[in-house]
Amino acid sequence: MGNVTVFDHPLIQHKIAILRSKDTTRKEFRELVDEITMFMCYEALRDLPLTEVEVETPITATKCNMLAGDAIAVVPILRAGLGMVNGLLNMVPNAAVGHIGLYRDETTLEPHEYYCKLPPRIDERQIIVLDPMLATGGSAVAAINFIKAHGGKKIKFMCMIAAPEGMKALQEAHPDVDIYCAHMDERLNERGYIVPGLGDAGDRLFGTL
Ligand code: PRP
Ligand code: URA
Repeated sequence: MGNVTVFDHPLIQHKIAILRSKDTTRKEFRELVDEITMFMCYEALRDLPLTEVEVETPITATKCNMLAGDAIAVVPILRAGLGMVNGLLNMVPNAAVGHIGLYRDETTLEPHEYYCKLPPRIDERQIIVLDPMLATGGSAVAAINFIKAHGGKKIKFMCMIAAPEGMKALQEAHPDVDIYCAHMDERLNERGYIVPGLGDAGDRLFGTL
């Protein structure tokens, strides 16, 4: 079974509290998603591949390790996953970016795919799938099914908030995937929204409320 990391760091909890508030502005919401993603990277990217380079210091030449940037692909699930891309790219600027477009049918809660473009050599890359919300888990499971069908092998999933139902569904469908989530919430409501959650992440990021 893949590892599940839930972040209990005070800085992340503080920012998640502000993110949840209905009074947080769109600008603040975007900035918070960026910042929380960057903090999460510290743990989620702990085992990224390094490549040895020679660096000349003012004193001498030495061997150092740098990120093998081209070995990484970030894949946001549209739309809301886009909000986490900057935070990730601030940490790994040379990562390739793929996109998977999925929306949840509001009645059935089933995910529907409308777009997919993945970087080449996806089978060789460390793939980091981004979506702020893991609710029923349908969207994350479908996105990772799709990535695997295109050859993706090394996959991690990062989200801001997860419901226990979505976490269970994702672990059962993809036991090889490590999951990083800033906070684990209580449950889903009858409309498939996370409680207490933060509402609709895509709407709050893009002003479509
Ligand atoms: C939201 C969210 C996830 C999905 C989570 O997207 O960003 O992708 O719901 O729900 P699930 O775990 O039950 O599948 P939504 O379908 O609202 O699309 P949007 O990002 O375009 O708003
Ligand atoms: N998608 C969201 O954006 N929020 C939820 O609470 C559930 C799904």
